Amino acid sequence: MGRRLLVTGGAGFIGANFVLYWLSRHPEDRVVVLDALTYAGNRASLAAVADDPRLRFVHGDIRDTETVEALLRTEAIDTLVHFAAESHVDRSIHGPDAFIDTNVGGTHALLKAARAVWLQGDGRPHRFHHVSTDEVYGSLGPEDPPFNERTRYAPNSPYAASKAASDHLVRAYHRTYGLQVTTSNCSNNYGPFQFPEKLIPLTLINVLEGREIPVYGDGRQVRDWLYVEDHCRGIEAVLDAGIPGETYNIGGCNEVRNLDLVRTLCRLLDARFEADPALARRHGRSPAARGEPAESLIRFVKDRPGHDRRYAIDAGKIARALGFRPIETFESGLRKTIDWYLEHESWWRSVLDGSYRHWLKTQYGGQFVND
Ligand code: NAD
Ligand code: DAU
Repeated sequence: MGRRLLVTGGAGFIGANFVLYWLSRHPEDRVVVLDALTYAGNRASLAAVADDPRLRFVHGDIRDTETVEALLRTEAIDTLVHFAAESHVDRSIHGPDAFIDTNVGGTHALLKAARAVWLQGDGRPHRFHHVSTDEVYGSLGPEDPPFNERTRYAPNSPYAASKAASDHLVRAYHRTYGLQVTTSNCSNNYGPFQFPEKLIPLTLINVLEGREIPVYGDGRQVRDWLYVEDHCRGIEAVLDAGIPGETYNIGGCNEVRNLDLVRTLCRLLDARFEADPALARRHGRSPAARGEPAESLIRFVKDRPGHDRRYAIDAGKIARALGFRPIETFESGLRKTIDWYLEHESWWRSVLDGSYRHWLKTQYGGQFVND
């Protein structure tokens, strides 16, 4: 018999990629998605498996412990993979409350439900996997060694602090109650279905739409980028062979400065437009349609408050202990991502038509929105 998974946040970027990945590789398993469909959740991201009898979608909130308990019982869930969160640093700066409510309160509500059903109930074998971030470790200097699993927590944004708090709660439920937990702390993901408030899809779509590309501060901040399917494979490795109570860092060994990344994306898109003249006709506002390079859209804007300068991951533990290494190179991952956004215009248009447009306007005074 297969595993029975509850995936929270399965209509979000990484959660949806995980559900698609899991169903394609685990034919015996059942997947129940619990998602509140906030601005970041999109059922269209699961369209390819909407009719799959192994998938059930539940529109609900992780903070609702009763709903979660009922799902764990009625669906006989043995594996909970927890993605649901408020995930965008800029939003956490403008409105931290939702981050505390969902990331801290929501994670605690899930832990309480898991304890009630799994530990105080039938005592069945179980796993609670918590998906976290490298941002809990704070910011590195240029010569600092990368974050490992023993690096001291030093979160700098309300988002990072809320994730750090949730990591501590997960750990405490293991130490105190014996809940079988694992945690993974991952670096920046990119790939299909990413909400266009995040740097890579924002840049791609702004080029296609001829909008300015905001680069915060001097653009020399460094992030470590990982293709989203590699993150899903890393979580799979932890679910398969990770040791309860342990944490695993997942990263791409791929440190890139923001400005270099934006320029690379611009050049890759310019090359795509040059190779395929139909693209300029389809995206008439793009610089390529006027014979200009995409880089002409880059604008240096005010820096993000508390902006972390550099993230880097030491992924040695998961490589040694679980044999996990990313498959995609940055080049192959970026090409797949660009192809996906070019081929899925209706997906990102539907996202842009929603609350995100309103947010962009309030954030940047309409600067990046063409009505
Ligand atoms: P996302 O913002 O794209 O998706 C979050 C999902 O959670 C959405 O579908 C949303 O509807 C759902 N959700 C939010 N509040 C909820 C609630 N109260 N109840 C139920 N569902 C709710 O996020 P993402 O980028 O896919 O990130 C997923 C997880 O991975 C997060 O926990 C994030 O901290 C972590 N993470 C993200 C990255 C990254 O680069 N995106 C890197 C490392 C870790
Ligand atoms: O490191 C993992 C984290 O990566 C995850 O935990 C978060 O959920 C995820 O959002 C991401 O956080 P970042 O803040 O690193 O991602 P973001 O795409 O918002 O920004 C990436 C970098 O680009 C960051 O240094 C800020 C910068 N940036 C971002 C935006 C949106 C810009 O310069 N301009 C922009 O418009």
